[in-house]
Amino acid sequence: MTRTVSSTAVGIVGGGPAGLMLSHLLQLSGIESVVIETRTRDEIEHTHRAGILERDSVRMLVDSGVSDRVLRDGHEHQGIALRFGGVSHRIDFQGLVGASTWLYPQTDVFMDLAAARERDGGDVRYAVTDTSVVDVTSDRPAMLFTDSDGMRHEVRCPVLVGADGSRSMTRDSVQDRTEYFRQYPFAWFGILCEAPPSAPELIYTRSERGFALVSQRTDAIQRLYFQCSPEESVDDWPEDRIWSELQARLAGEDGFVLTEGRIFDKSVLPFRSYVCEPMRHGNLLLAGDAAHTVPPTGAKGLNLALADVRVLAEVLERAVLKNDRSALDEYTGRALARVWKAQHFSYWMTTMLHALPDASDFDVRRQLGELSSVVGSEHGRRFLAEAYTGWPA
Ligand code: DHB
Repeated sequence: MTRTVSSTAVGIVGGGPAGLMLSHLLQLSGIESVVIETRTRDEIEHTHRAGILERDSVRMLVDSGVSDRVLRDGHEHQGIALRFGGVSHRIDFQGLVGASTWLYPQTDVFMDLAAARERDGGDVRYAVTDTSVVDVTSDRPAMLFTDSDGMRHEVRCPVLVGADGSRSMTRDSVQDRTEYFRQYPFAWFGILCEAPPSAPELIYTRSERGFALVSQRTDAIQRLYFQCSPEESVDDWPEDRIWSELQARLAGEDGFVLTEGRIFDKSVLPFRSYVCEPMRHGNLLLAGDAAHTVPPTGAKGLNLALADVRVLAEVLERAVLKNDRSALDEYTGRALARVWKAQHFSYWMTTMLHALPDASDFDVRRQLGELSSVVGSEHGRRFLAEAYTGWPA
């Protein structure tokens, strides 16, 4: 088959939020890029993911000209509740650290980024097949793929970015990597339902029956999660069973009751902590889920991907425009500093709020002691608030 050969400054594998944001930031600095993505735009728009943006993620979307819709359609949240022993304890982000988070689903972030790339004439190829990367540690790496019209392409680029998600093909192309990971003996069951929010802010709940999270999407749609077994099948959970389990986990002396409505989406979310080091391999740089995944408790995944891209755009600007290849050396160290803080935070929130299958009575009482010491101390609440709203870049 004939192959069209072309070149660009930065080849980006993966057109999710990380890849599109990077391509957008590079264009603002006058750097050309090509993004390839195996899914269709429609498929990505309909894949439900988390919904919480840190303060600096919102700033990045607004200040770089991607979206002011986040400020219009998103909802500012000035705190969350930690609930245990049937009592809610508010963590007042504004009062503690002067910051908020925004409820704005990842699907909307993607739609805004895809629209901005289209508006600005960005080169994004969706629905490509047979993708591979070659010569990644040389100074002439390339992306190979077949486009949606069946044409075969080779795009040569001095720098390649792997932003192709947790099952990254680009990551697998390098041998010399160290992987750190931790499995958890549980997962999350997630639902979307037609009901107004049960509370103005998110509620992270620890109960004897396991964790539950009350989140929201719009004035008429709620997003709820509860801890389940990793082998759980959504078919074993008819609506009644879901509601009685969720209500039982949220019940307390304050008489809290969830608003219920028709459930129109059910899924089981995997749980894993993972980091690949280094994040740079020659002229291949990994970003977002390709380099690390966090368990969902605390909603760090997307925020961390955007933080990687902020560092990456800056080092690439120096590497490409000033021909200073040593700038790339900074990437791994700078990105990983935040990655490991977020790994700790996600692990901490997870272990503090979930029921461990083999927990002893000691373990249970220690966990309640931990929760009490966090909510009962201004220092504890501030530590949580700072991490949740995002450490300053
Ligand atoms: C949501 C997901 C999270 O993992 C979280 O910690 C908070 C909110 C959500 O999808 O709304």
